[in-house]
Amino acid sequence: MAFSKFGQKFTQKSGILQLMDDLGKALASDQPINMLGGGNPAKIPQVNAAFTQVAQNLIQSGQIIDSIANYSTPQGDDAFIKTLADFFRAEYGWNVQPENIALTNGSQNAFFYLFNLFGGEFEGGNKRILLPLSPEYVGYADAHISGSHFQTVRPKIERVQHNGKSGFFKYRVDFDALETLPEWENGEIGAICCSRPTNPTGNVLTDEEMARLDKLAQQHGIPLIIDNAYGAPFPNIIHTDNQLIWHDNIVLCFSLSKIGLPSARTGIVLANAEIINAINSLNAIINLSPTRMGAAMVTPMLQDGSLKQLSNEVIRPFYAEQAEYAIALLQHEFADYPLAIHQPEGAIFLWLWFENLPISSKELYEILKQRGTLIIPSEPFFVGLDTRDYRHAHECIRMSIAGDKTVLQQGIATIGEVVRELYDNAEGK
Ligand SMILES: Cc1ncc(COP(=O)(O)O)c(C=O)c1O
Repeated sequence: MAFSKFGQKFTQKSGILQLMDDLGKALASDQPINMLGGGNPAKIPQVNAAFTQVAQNLIQSGQIIDSIANYSTPQGDDAFIKTLADFFRAEYGWNVQPENIALTNGSQNAFFYLFNLFGGEFEGGNKRILLPLSPEYVGYADAHISGSHFQTVRPKIERVQHNGKSGFFKYRVDFDALETLPEWENGEIGAICCSRPTNPTGNVLTDEEMARLDKLAQQHGIPLIIDNAYGAPFPNIIHTDNQLIWHDNIVLCFSLSKIGLPSARTGIVLANAEIINAINSLNAIINLSPTRMGAAMVTPMLQDGSLKQLSNEVIRPFYAEQAEYAIALLQHEFADYPLAIHQPEGAIFLWLWFENLPISSKELYEILKQRGTLIIPSEPFFVGLDTRDYRHAHECIRMSIAGDKTVLQQGIATIGEVVRELYDNAEGK
């Protein structure tokens, strides 16, 4: 069968598709598996209890049928959008009106729209999306209909301490390289996009870095897209004291996935009215209207403050504790070995760097999979970068910290055994 160019592009087996497929198959097999791959949020009993309660209330009051038995407008559930606008005004003092908000079927859906609105073929040539800090969220990688996709630069690596301990590093934006990219001259950058906190590293771009990106975007008359899937005010899995910014030139994207509702597929875009209108048009053609279940569940929780409370008092502390627990195990396993951990500033992962690893992290992934532990190798996260002669891009792994403590213990013990043996063999020990 002959597929169009669009069909060919979207049906090719990308590296990450194969990996995700692998993860799915491993989970479905009857072999026990330590699941440190994937991006599922944790199953937190207090969070599940809160969602169960709201769902029961919606059923008992009959509101569930009002909500799911009707399409919304292409912009999304009206009551949720109004509640969000009130919430953002009260919480941050931003001048947000309902016309500044659109809902999408997950934020992944929003990024597909945004990257194709601001990147791809324009009159006069192609534009790319600039990812200021690499590695970045792998889900951006293939979300383009046409044209060349992403532009990025290698990060700066800074050795840092965490809670007074060494063995940590932090990526920093290389602004000298970024600001002097030749693509600026030719108007080839259509938007800047960053996830903050970042998947896969847990990095939180500093307020200074954000201010500089904001300025750069304004100077060039392009939007700054901030992917806030893990950030404040929900799920608020962020352990640094950073400011959330928004104005007319910023597109701020939220998601209900990491509060624990990934299959409700609810993304929220906060942007100027022109961009929101564009999203509404895309929603109408591609989805008719966005899903309403997540909106119905979270509207009362935003109104009574329980979502914010759950994020601050349950979700954030849960992941902070998981991160410290996993770090203690890792530092024990790798006491005399060259492991550096990216400073855990947020999100639901740890990013581990095995400097001078004797094999690639893709090969390490294969070995670990055979040993019943799933992680994600680093290379696919360097979206938009030619990694052929960039060893660092092949020396890291991403591990999820959302699993229970037994999974963390067993998974980290296996990583320890395998990687220590690799280093020992390379040194002829
Ligand atoms: C940084 C980041 N952005 C966006 C998404 C997409 O999330 P969703 O489509 O479930 O809202 C994810 C999911 O893992 C993510 O990690």
